[in-house]
Amino acid sequence: MSEPVINIGLAGFGTVGRGVWKFLRSQEDLLACRTGARLKISKVTTRTRSKALDQGVPESMLVPSWKELVSDSQIEIIVELMGGVQEARELVMTALRSGKHVVTANKALLAAHGEELLGIAREQGKKLLFEASVAGGIPILKALQEGLVANHVKSIHGIINGTCNYILTTMRDQKRTYEDVLVDAKRLGYAEADEALDVDGYDTAHKAAVLAALAYGVWVPEAKLFTQGIRSIQQQDIAFARQLGYEVKLLAIIKNDLEETLEIRVNPTLIPLTHVLASVDGVFNAISLRGDVVGDALFYGRGAGEAPTTSSVLADLAEIAKGRGRQEAASFCKPLVKKVLQIEEIISRYYLRLTIEDKPGVLAQVATVLGVHGIGISSVIQPETHEENGVPLIIMLHDAQEQKFVEAVKEIEKLKVVQAPAVWIRVEDFSS
Ligand code: HSE
Repeated sequence: MSEPVINIGLAGFGTVGRGVWKFLRSQEDLLACRTGARLKISKVTTRTRSKALDQGVPESMLVPSWKELVSDSQIEIIVELMGGVQEARELVMTALRSGKHVVTANKALLAAHGEELLGIAREQGKKLLFEASVAGGIPILKALQEGLVANHVKSIHGIINGTCNYILTTMRDQKRTYEDVLVDAKRLGYAEADEALDVDGYDTAHKAAVLAALAYGVWVPEAKLFTQGIRSIQQQDIAFARQLGYEVKLLAIIKNDLEETLEIRVNPTLIPLTHVLASVDGVFNAISLRGDVVGDALFYGRGAGEAPTTSSVLADLAEIAKGRGRQEAASFCKPLVKKVLQIEEIISRYYLRLTIEDKPGVLAQVATVLGVHGIGISSVIQPETHEENGVPLIIMLHDAQEQKFVEAVKEIEKLKVVQAPAVWIRVEDFSS
């Protein structure tokens, strides 16, 4: 007996849309066998018709607007891959209210409206699934909701932006500039249409917000999520960090200690070369997670690009096809978290690079300011040869509260012997 057909409306035909079109066809039999249903795209809408036609989408399947997908009673699932926020929100709301399930990869949409949209999905008894929104092909959202469901998640450390990780590791390995490598990342289909979303950390922040929602049942608004990108990272800092035994990575850091406070932030971070995340290179993503039952767990895979992201979209489609009754479990739970820490309140270690006059007593002056603020030094390096004016002085610091550290840096910058603005990066030693 042949399987029932589930018709899909595909909105958006960019990198991931193209992948869904291709792989849904190549995997159709496999998915039919595993789910008991035949998933078929019946209509496509896109701003770039020529790209869809080039991939073999029949002209008869192309419709000018997503409204024709949601008004088609034969379509059971909408796959939203248009990107953007406002129109995508309207599409998802309308689709759910029209009795359709929705699969999306749109992390910006979820970070801004996830709570609202999941509420509508619940009211309508429909599924809104978004595995592809975080970490490309890594099934981290399903892991949080299924395999790790018995855990309280104590911390999540994630390299979850392929573009930034690709840029940082290529700058390091090929000694190329940030701008030069960014061009490659765009060509390879890793970067967002607006690359600022990647390099300024917002894409990572959106994904962190989704992870926190599933782990803790709380949607942290963008304004409360401290976000710093990688534009200011220079090759010399990557090199000094390595000399000190660290790698520079853009990390999403989420910590919860069961005391009702949540630490959630995105920033370039020095991590010890001995930590497994330090060896995650190129477009690869990894999420290191600590649960109270499981202990440490690591998830690794390709975080961007056509095929890996499509793999996650197809997983959501298969889940709907199987008719399993799972929803975003954490969104039903009573939120645990009452307060999100301000960035000034966090405790971190720091890497500090100063450009100083090469004369006796300078280190003592700097150390005095740090000492007055109660900040301890863990190591110091000063290269003997240097090219520019002034001498670099690199100081690794013990744990300090960010506010105290920033105050100390401001004072240090006022010292006559300090010749340029300080460069500093937070350090993560994975102790909590
Ligand atoms: N621009 C994103 C990245 C795509 O580089 O990770 C996948 O979300």
